[in-house]
Amino acid sequence: MTRVFSGIQPTGDLHLGNYLGALINWVGFQDRADCVYCVVDLHAITSPAEHDPTTLTQRTLDTTTLLLAVGIDPARSILFVQSHLHEHAECTWLFNCVAGFGELRKMPQFKEKSEGKGESVSVGLFDYPVLQAADILLYHADEVPVGEDQRHHIELARDIGQRFNHRFRDEVFTLPKAIHPPAAARVMDLQEPTNKMSKSASTDKGIVNLLDDPARITKKVKSAVTDSATDIRHDRVEKPGVSNLLEILAVATGRSADDLAAEYDGQGYGVFKAAVAEAVVELLRPIQQRYHELAADPAEVERVLADGAARAREVAAPTLARAKAAVGLLPPA
Ligand code: AMP
Ligand code: TRP
Repeated sequence: MTRVFSGIQPTGDLHLGNYLGALINWVGFQDRADCVYCVVDLHAITSPAEHDPTTLTQRTLDTTTLLLAVGIDPARSILFVQSHLHEHAECTWLFNCVAGFGELRKMPQFKEKSEGKGESVSVGLFDYPVLQAADILLYHADEVPVGEDQRHHIELARDIGQRFNHRFRDEVFTLPKAIHPPAAARVMDLQEPTNKMSKSASTDKGIVNLLDDPARITKKVKSAVTDSATDIRHDRVEKPGVSNLLEILAVATGRSADDLAAEYDGQGYGVFKAAVAEAVVELLRPIQQRYHELAADPAEVERVLADGAARAREVAAPTLARAKAAVGLLPPA
């Protein structure tokens, strides 16, 4: 069966963009693949500006709880926290000796995040994609669902795997490919509909957090920026705000954006926005309910993670052992 691997950083407060652009697909893959999902806390400490040690622990638990709430099913998939397996850091070291300085320096995400930081930029940030390669390759992943921005990281994982297999004359690693599911929505900021909805956006008003209560969601959707016309049609260039709302409504209702445009055109933005708000509230209601049930029982979430780590290790440990043997490291007696 196809093995799917993906990872998400423990930010704790996931938004509608994360859900419709990524997590909804993670849930869907469970029906056709053998899935491994990882909360990547080691990646979250690579940039001091984004790392707060006093909140990381809780955010790791909250992110796991949200993953369970959206429908990641621990009976079918492996769900675990990256730092619970020393294999990831150890495999990163082996890969560090195969990866090239030049190829890492060229990674667009590194270039972007290190810009203006001069010599103080951490080696961890530089090494981020190598750790990501270890995540993926330890599990023999065939497919890695990620956003377009991760394309270079998956290609690097492929290159590292291929180079390792070739240099050490053993097909230890399966070469993964990135997939960008066709159903993945690109959710735009409600206040600035030409920008992606993103945690790093300047204002919370443009972001629907998965845990926002119904009143807050309604207020945010109703104050979404549209345009000064009144027609409702799907046109990303001329009508980015209206189109974003149409697309959100489309995923929430399972209908097409054009179909919905035809239905709401002529009724005015007020009626249309109320319908979108209600659909988003109803989409998130069961997720929030499940989240609050799970959050009341953190011991259960920790039990899921302990089980996930044990099952992850059953795959990762033999892969790492084989890689160490291929390199020629003396196994302990
Ligand atoms: P991030 O936390 O921004 O790295 O995103 C985690 C996952 O959510 C990635 O797979 C992103 O591609 C996806 N994602 C984040 N923001 C959006 C958005 N506004 N629309 C669609 N997908 C998104
Ligand atoms: N770098 C990814 C992101 O920012 C997160 C990630 C870490 C990941 N390890 C991974 C994604 C392995 C896919 C596979 O979204």
